[in-house]
Amino acid sequence: MTISPEKLELDAREFRRIYGNGGKISWVAAPGRVNLIGEHTDYHEGFVFPAAIDRHVRILGRARNDRKVRIFSATFNGSYEFSLDTSMSDVKGWARRAEGIIRTVLDAVDEKHGLDIWMDADLSVGGGLSSSAASMAVLGTLAALLHGRTLEKIAFAKTLQAAEHSFAGLKCGIMDQLAILLGKAGHALLLDCRDLATSHVKLPAEWALVIMDTNVKHDLASSEYNKRQIECGTVLDALRRRRPEIRSLRDVSFNELEAVRDECDPVGIKRCLHVLSENERVHKAVAALENADARSIGELFAASHKSLRDDYAVSCRELDAMVEAAADAPGIIGSRMTGGGFGGSTVNLVHKDQAHSFAEHVSEKYRKATGIDGKAIIVTTSDGVVTGNL
Ligand code: GLA
Repeated sequence: MTISPEKLELDAREFRRIYGNGGKISWVAAPGRVNLIGEHTDYHEGFVFPAAIDRHVRILGRARNDRKVRIFSATFNGSYEFSLDTSMSDVKGWARRAEGIIRTVLDAVDEKHGLDIWMDADLSVGGGLSSSAASMAVLGTLAALLHGRTLEKIAFAKTLQAAEHSFAGLKCGIMDQLAILLGKAGHALLLDCRDLATSHVKLPAEWALVIMDTNVKHDLASSEYNKRQIECGTVLDALRRRRPEIRSLRDVSFNELEAVRDECDPVGIKRCLHVLSENERVHKAVAALENADARSIGELFAASHKSLRDDYAVSCRELDAMVEAAADAPGIIGSRMTGGGFGGSTVNLVHKDQAHSFAEHVSEKYRKATGIDGKAIIVTTSDGVVTGNL
């Protein structure tokens, strides 16, 4: 188990301080995720290679005997409540996502009752580590658990993805949700986003994962994210005029893409080139990781970052500076932006014995280049969502 009993006891004390004593308290913890490689490929039915990390959103909850749902978020230092007898409100932000996923999960339950909920996290918001998906995962799991239900993981991942689309407005793929639900300590998860086939790949024991948070999050993140799907969609239309059975970029070869170049907007072609080349890099990276081939990982991470920066255009000045700062850092194996982009973090594979000097070197260089204090997080991989009772 990755959550210490002492931490949960402290959480329970907070829970009882807010909601009072008595009754059985259940808890759920969901890890964040870092994507090793395979960026902006999931919603093109491509391949991704994330890992769940030992930073979690934790939630405690207890059944009520009325129809009220009360939520306290320590992360946002705020509370919110709604009644299961009314329809979805027009609240915004974290409360909207919370209400949305709870209502969605409870839609399938006939005998609903209210809930008292307390949540906290050691996963920073906006760091590109899927704190939003992890929060929805704990809320949905807890709501089901307190109604005596367990959720099938793949179906639940799809529910969470749909909830992200509806309640956060981000037309995300399914990588984050599956990484959070199916993570396994010591491993990364190779995921085929077409048929959702998964396999766990062991990480070399002597390699460490260092996340370097730029401490910036540009507003563009969700508008540009949704825009990339439209840009690729126009090229897909041209491709389908030649071969109607094409379902997604997953079905397209480099030659086919070249063949429609003249009929398409060059920007769209660049976006698609990223997706095709990134899918290839995922397979190469899996093989390189299995062989602890540091040199290939370094090359693949560099090529991935370049492609995200130049072809897919989802990097930013700060992410580029963070990757550049890692280039000559002690212990470096590979460095690239991770997650949706426009801020957030870089993922770095580093020789374990040099992880701390790596983090110091990169932080210092990043600060000199940008004037911003970044944050280094040395993580280990983790299991997926865990539940229990207190
Ligand atoms: C965000 C989305 C994921 C994925 C990444 C980019 O994290 O939630 O589905 O598309 O961006 O790889």
